Amino acid sequence: MTTAKIIDGKAVAAQIRDEIAQQIAALRRDRPVPPGLAVILVGDDPASQVYVRSKERQAQEAGFKSVAYRRPADISEEQLITLIEGLNEDPGIDGILVQLPLPPHIDEAVVINAISPDKDVDGFHPINVGRLMTGEPSLLPCTPLGCLTLLKRTLGDLSGLDAVVVGRSNIVGKPMAALLLRENCTVTVAHSRTRDLPAVCRRADILVAAVGKPGFVQADWIKPGATVIDVGINRVPGADGKSRLVGDVDFGPASAVAGAITPVPGGVGPMTIAMLLRNTLSAYCRNNRLACPLA
Ligand code: GUN
Repeated sequence: MTTAKIIDGKAVAAQIRDEIAQQIAALRRDRPVPPGLAVILVGDDPASQVYVRSKERQAQEAGFKSVAYRRPADISEEQLITLIEGLNEDPGIDGILVQLPLPPHIDEAVVINAISPDKDVDGFHPINVGRLMTGEPSLLPCTPLGCLTLLKRTLGDLSGLDAVVVGRSNIVGKPMAALLLRENCTVTVAHSRTRDLPAVCRRADILVAAVGKPGFVQADWIKPGATVIDVGINRVPGADGKSRLVGDVDFGPASAVAGAITPVPGGVGPMTIAMLLRNTLSAYCRNNRLACPLA
């Protein structure tokens, strides 16, 4: 029995993309050049290929110029850096995204450091990470920003709420914790070494699961009425022999306990690309010294 409100990330993301498309159309009335997004994909990881195609398509549909740079898995780190440096200097490009993970011979930190912080629409550059921590305006990581957008639409003011983030990655867990702290939550970051994880999770008014383990978070770890945000996208074998996507939360039982919960698919996933478009529009406005129409 489902009692939780199902948070429809797909619908919210579609609405945000529409708003962005309208804002781009309005800006283009006096500017010939659209905002430009460059997406770099190294190698042929099937999941990354799917993500990059979606990013390209959704950017184009919203009115961006979208350019994908597909490079073979054996590209050298130096060649990749040269490509990024060219895009840093390109006035037609406002946002640069290097799809992760990269092949093992390439140092992700070196690559991320090569992206101009003003075009870093993933919000992964240490300058933007620092700005997030100090509260200065910056480009914010897309997945945590998508989670925060859903939380604010569901709960309104988050001040004083107990938030538990399970997972401490640089892409999701750590920036998610920083964003929730900025919203005046009391934040706990739990991870693989946390003692009595179920008891820690049961304290949460907001529980964010970002561990990459299918069905890991159990219903009896959830405080009745809590808001649960499931960042996991795990492919598992389905009953019919095909694979299916599941999150990091055991959704069926969890949705009988939670007050609100994001589904997988259709929850956080679609929000990530909507936030990428948002960041690219805000970089365009900033880099062209325009007032940004985004709230
Ligand atoms: N791989 C998985 N998630 C992401 C993301 O948000 N940005 C990039 N660049 N790569 C990813």
